[in-house]
Parts: sequence; structure tokens; C-alpha cells
Amino acid sequence: MKVTRVVAGAAVAAAVLVSLNATGAPAAPAGKVAAVPGSVPGAAALTAQQSAADSKTLRELAKRTGMKIGTAVDMGALANDATYKQHVASEFNSVTAENVMKWSELEPTRGTLNFGPADELVAFAKANGQSVRGHTLLWHNQLPTWLTDGVASGDIDSAELRQLLRQHIFTVAGHFRGKIYQWDVANEVIDDNAQLRNTIWLQKLGPGYIADVFRWAHQADPKAKLYINDYNVEGLNAKADAYYALVKQLKADRVPIHGFGMQGHLGVQYGFDGRALANVQRFEALGLETSFTEVDVRMIMPTDNTKLHAQANGYSILLRACLLAKRCVSFTVWGFTDKYSWVPGVFEGEGAANLLDENFGQKPAYQAVSQTLALAG
Ligand code: G3I
Repeated sequence: MKVTRVVAGAAVAAAVLVSLNATGAPAAPAGKVAAVPGSVPGAAALTAQQSAADSKTLRELAKRTGMKIGTAVDMGALANDATYKQHVASEFNSVTAENVMKWSELEPTRGTLNFGPADELVAFAKANGQSVRGHTLLWHNQLPTWLTDGVASGDIDSAELRQLLRQHIFTVAGHFRGKIYQWDVANEVIDDNAQLRNTIWLQKLGPGYIADVFRWAHQADPKAKLYINDYNVEGLNAKADAYYALVKQLKADRVPIHGFGMQGHLGVQYGFDGRALANVQRFEALGLETSFTEVDVRMIMPTDNTKLHAQANGYSILLRACLLAKRCVSFTVWGFTDKYSWVPGVFEGEGAANLLDENFGQKPAYQAVSQTLALAG
């Protein structure tokens, strides 16, 4: 259970003050802070909390807030990089498989399931007292070629595709039953024009496929919290509005959907939408829990101090929204070191998106996350 609101609110407001001074970028509506003079802890208390933060890991600091702090895990790095492995275990109390729970990795050959790497992650998490987020049961990317080729050639028709999807969800969610606290059931089903994404799922199964996958996932693992997850939905915008309408309809149709996942792939060059809290609160008002599921803040290389501090502010804006919300239960970064990041491979000339540098050195972003957690706990 999260700590009492007021305390957290005041402490987080103080963090706003701190971060404002640190980056010079407006992090929150300043008036809010000024409105309650004397309720913010004195500078001495702040410094004490910050030095306390320095000695604690993120998971130790997060524990007192009730919110889980997580990371995506690259299984290759976990197997081959001891420093990486040590950081995953010590800094985070939640882990997400960056790739090994995706359909193309689980069933590269039709009918042959490869749960090995994913089971290793679940076992690692158990050994380190961590919770596991499942990612992802349905997506339009990283699908096995036997499936996409079959659909494209017509060998797999709509009825068979629906049966294959149903079987995939029962097999995968069933295999990890009781070991996953949150599943990204449906990932990126709305496009950047706020329309249902035109994928093989929509084309072959119609819009009803979204409700179906939640019903199947719930039957397969009744205890897991079932999420709809996407990027560019952290603030108030047309895409987030489209998800608000979709979720409202799914709830009205009594579909077992429990959470809204905001990926949080940001870029300092785009600035940050400071209205993340209002967005989170409206989804919570629909009866959902919320989570930030894939946070990273990239920049155009090379790095410099201004970009690194703006990056820290980007992480802080989302983390504060989560801490100030009532039912934001987890905050996951999509990798934590610049040594292993998907960003440079997709965004040419961009990178340095994570909390630690390529030598696992703490960046201003790590300090900001650590201090915000310390002040919230
Ligand atoms: O597994 C194959 C391997 O067999 C092959 O030898 C190798 C060489 O091409 O590719 C490997 O697959 C790669 C896979 O990661 C596993 O490493 C794919 O090429 C590569 O495209 C894939 O990238 C992942 C990407 O999703 C795919 O879209 C990234 O690591 C992963 O961070 C990224 O994560 C997504 C989330 O799932 C959803 N939200 C956005 C986020 C960033 O794109």
C-alpha cells in the first residue's frame, strides 16, 4: 500500500522545488508550492534526505513508497555481464523481459515453444525478491514469420488466426500463471493518429479482438493485473484521449481490464508534457490502476550538461506523477544503462537514454530518481 498522500505530496512538491532549481526548466505549476507556506520540509531536512538517498538503492527507496521500481531486462546481458546482473538485482524490485516473452521469441517455429530464457528471468526474479511484469501477449511487432507469412499467403485464414491467438494467450499466460503481477495484454493497438492501429489483428479479426484477448488472459491467469499499454500517451493528447474512450467502453462491456500502461519513451529535444498527473488521475477515475512501463529519455548525441539535466527532469516528471497518483503501482525503465539500449539502433544519432552511463556511472537522471524516491518515502 502506498504511503499517505499528504506527506508524499509535500515531499514531492519539495522535490519539484529542488528539480526546478537544478534544471531551470519549469517542472510543475509553481503556484501550488507557494500556496501552502511552511508545509515544505526545511533545506536541512532536504539535504538529510538526499544524503540518505545516496546510500540507498532505488529499490530500497521505492519500498517505502509502496510503488515498484522496475527495469526491462536484456537476457543476453544478464547472462554475460556480471556488473549488469548485479545492478538488476540490487536496484529494482520489478523486472520485465525486454524481448524473450514476445511471440517471435517464444514460438519461432510453429508448435515449438521456447520458454527457456523467460523461465530464467522468472527464476532470477524469484531468487532476488522481484515481481515480474509480462510483456507482451498481443502486439503487431515481433510476431513469428510462420504466422505473418501464413496470414499474408492466406494459408492462415481469420478463423484459424483467432484460434492461434487464443491458444497463444492460454499457453503463455497459463505457463506463467501466478508468477506475473501485471501483463501487457494488448500493446500499441492505437496509432499516432488516434485510430485503431491497422494491423493483421484489426484486419482479420475486427475491433472485437481487443476485448477477446483480455477475456482469454483473465481466464488463463485470474490473478494477474491486465494492462493495455502504449507510447505517447503520458500527457493529455489525442492518442491518450482515444485510449480513455476505448478503456471506458471496455469497462462498460465488463471486459476484465485492470491497468493502463504508459510506456514513457521521451526525448529531451521534444520537451515534456507536464500534465502526466492529470492523465493518470483520469484513468484511475475509471477504476484502473496505472503504471509507467518503459521509461527512457533519449537525446541527440553528443550529450552535454543541459541535455543531461533536462533528461533528469523528464524522468522526474513521470516519476512524480506516479508518486502523486493514488493507484500508480509501478515505474519501469526500459533498460537502465547506456551500455544496453534499443535507442541508437532505432533513432540514428540519438542515445544516452538511461539512468546510468555505459560504464554504469550514475547520471543526473539517476540522482533525480533517487532523490525523488527518497523525498516521497
Ligand atoms: O532474436 C533475434 C536474433 O535471433 C537475431 O540473430 C538478431 C539479429 O537480427 O535479432 C534478434 O531480434 C532482435 C530482438 O530485439 C531481440 O534482441 C530484433 O532484431 C530487434 O528488432 C529487437 O528489438 C526490440 C524491439 O522492441 C523490437 O521492436 C528491442 O530490443 C526492444 O527494446 C523493443 O522494445 C519495445 C517494446 O517491446 C514495446 N514498446 C517499444 C519498445 C522499443 O521499441
